[in-house]
Amino acid sequence: MENIRDTVKITDIIEWDKSNWAKALPFWKHHLRNENKTNETKLLKDQKVLELGGRCGGLSLWAASLGANVTCSDLENPEKIASPIHNKYPELQKLIKYESVNALDIHYENYFDVICFKSVLGGVASLHENARREMLVQIHKALRNGGQLLFAENLTATNLHMWARKMFRKYEASWSYQYFDDLRKLCSEYFDQKYCTVGFAGTLGLNETMKVFLGHIDTALFDWSLPERWRYIFIDFCMKK
Ligand SMILES: C[S@@+](CC[C@H](N)C(=O)[O-])C[C@H]1O[C@@H](n2cnc3c(N)ncnc32)[C@H](O)[C@@H]1O
Repeated sequence: MENIRDTVKITDIIEWDKSNWAKALPFWKHHLRNENKTNETKLLKDQKVLELGGRCGGLSLWAASLGANVTCSDLENPEKIASPIHNKYPELQKLIKYESVNALDIHYENYFDVICFKSVLGGVASLHENARREMLVQIHKALRNGGQLLFAENLTATNLHMWARKMFRKYEASWSYQYFDDLRKLCSEYFDQKYCTVGFAGTLGLNETMKVFLGHIDTALFDWSLPERWRYIFIDFCMKK
């Protein structure tokens, strides 16, 4: 996994089910491009990055650790929620500013080099039928030409996963789990993409310790042996068309 663990703790980037969701970070790093990067500079040096729906702002911290100038956003009060964690990294916090941004109404055009989010589309998609597309259109508009979108979202995965969510999760009604083919096709209308799916057992853990343990089993076994539609995390790297 990531060597940024030396500087930013992975628990400050990914809040839950971290062994599976953290797989997004090396995947994105592998595909990210920065024309301004030299051998001496960090991967996102001087890049303008927007995190949408950041809540505790974990991806903002990650992007800052790669040298980006970051706008950490959420619907309301992003600074109040994210700064207690960001305060732990004063050198990185200097690279982060805060702004309330609605992913359905982003007031920037041709501006950001990179936009990122994790577990936001599922909430937005539950609002109305067209909300997912509207969010992607807004992101497309806010990215500069050649800009890059990084995101990770929950997939429906199998009937076992959907049954377990209905049985054990309280917020089911306000979340729309995404169908693999459907999400992939929708994104392809606006972006060229590289994607992968990870995680099968991790989400079934009853607490974080179990999730992490099951996440390691996913890494060792299920991430390569099961059909991609059976896994529950969609990790996407997109280039603006
Ligand atoms: C499940 S939380 C995920 C938080 C964080 N990204 C993470 O993965 O830990 C969903 C987040 O999306 C935000 N959100 C919901 N609708 C949004 C919208 N229309 N625009 C921006 N953020 C939104 C919520 O405020 C919340 O912080």
